[in-house]
Amino acid sequence: MGNYYVACTLGLEEVLAYELRELGARNVDIRRGACAFSSEPDVAYKACLWLRSGIRVQEELVRGPARDREELYDLTSTVDWSLFIDATGTLAIDGSVRDSWANDTRFPVLVAKDAICDQFRHFDGIRPNVERDRPDLPIKLVLHNDEAILYRELGGEPLHKRGYHEVQHKSPLNESLAAGLIQLSEWDPKSPLVDPMCGSSTFLIEAAWLAMDRAPGLGRAFAFERWKDTDQNAWQSVFDEAEARATAGQDHCPRLAGNDNHEGAIAISKIAIKSAGLRGKIELNFGDTRDYVPPFKPAMVVTNPPYGERLQPDDPSLVDSWQSLGNFLHQQCNGAQAHVLCGAPELTRYLGLRTSRKFPVRNGPIECRWLRYELH
Ligand SMILES: C[S@@+](CC[C@H](N)C(=O)[O-])C[C@H]1O[C@@H](n2cnc3c(N)ncnc32)[C@H](O)[C@@H]1O
Repeated sequence: MGNYYVACTLGLEEVLAYELRELGARNVDIRRGACAFSSEPDVAYKACLWLRSGIRVQEELVRGPARDREELYDLTSTVDWSLFIDATGTLAIDGSVRDSWANDTRFPVLVAKDAICDQFRHFDGIRPNVERDRPDLPIKLVLHNDEAILYRELGGEPLHKRGYHEVQHKSPLNESLAAGLIQLSEWDPKSPLVDPMCGSSTFLIEAAWLAMDRAPGLGRAFAFERWKDTDQNAWQSVFDEAEARATAGQDHCPRLAGNDNHEGAIAISKIAIKSAGLRGKIELNFGDTRDYVPPFKPAMVVTNPPYGERLQPDDPSLVDSWQSLGNFLHQQCNGAQAHVLCGAPELTRYLGLRTSRKFPVRNGPIECRWLRYELH
């Protein structure tokens, strides 16, 4: 049994806890922007492959007092690092320091790195190299008060990097946030869904994969695949099961449609949809949202209109976008439910609708609300 810690966007903790329990995680404990759980390694492999709202899966290796350099060095040395990689492998340490004797992360990270490299040098004569991009062993050091915790990170690259957004939209939504918001909306995955300001189509792709039972990590690699102690048989059967479920779900995509008035966004969407294996499953339209007539009656609308990361909320272009969305919701969506991500409350009045629920979430540095509207 290992102890694991999974990070998510603030506001999605309950969604993440639900997903983890579905995967068989035990003792799921909700924290701020994260969940902790314990399980056998196969559940951790599943977490990397299947979590839609999680961002990082970390396994705790050791925790203990680290009141100064020596204690941190000794604590790091208690782990047998050769169980995970060879001396010819690569590693990287990411640090986080709070209320500690160290002013910032640089010195404690150096101490931990020295302890690991000295251990390898002692037994093998050589030491692993530090590699920032795609290290074999990504390590996280957390120093809080007088205690340190060392984790190894199973995913390597964060889990929201699914691999389908090779070309980036100017303000894309993080894939894990998009997938978490869809789950927060309680969308019935058999029902038709529209994003009238779809940008690079993150909501639409995540909705399709959810409905089709397609594991979001199926098209990418994970750091744990390269570790010496990974149970390759267990991982292979987790992977095979996900492939079988994706094949079985091929025909389970409901009708999905998106619109945007930015030609570049539609072009990026087409590339992303193809790369996500969803060609022909999402109907795209180029035009202003106020004129958009979806190819079917939507049961659910999910969208992320611009809310002025760089503009003031009274900027005419923002007001126009929100009025345009308001027109669309009034004219095309009778009987549907809508969810709108908003980071500037002043703009919601241009929709001319009353919210039925508000979920606080964080989009990067911006405090947002995921607003629910009943369109009767
Ligand atoms: C914040 S981005 C959406 C990002 C998207 N969720 C993604 O994952 O890439 C807002 C999008 O709304 C579009 N937009 C703004 N006003 C619009 C309008 N009046 N009609 C159609 N699209 C509009 C922009 O072109 C932009 O792509």
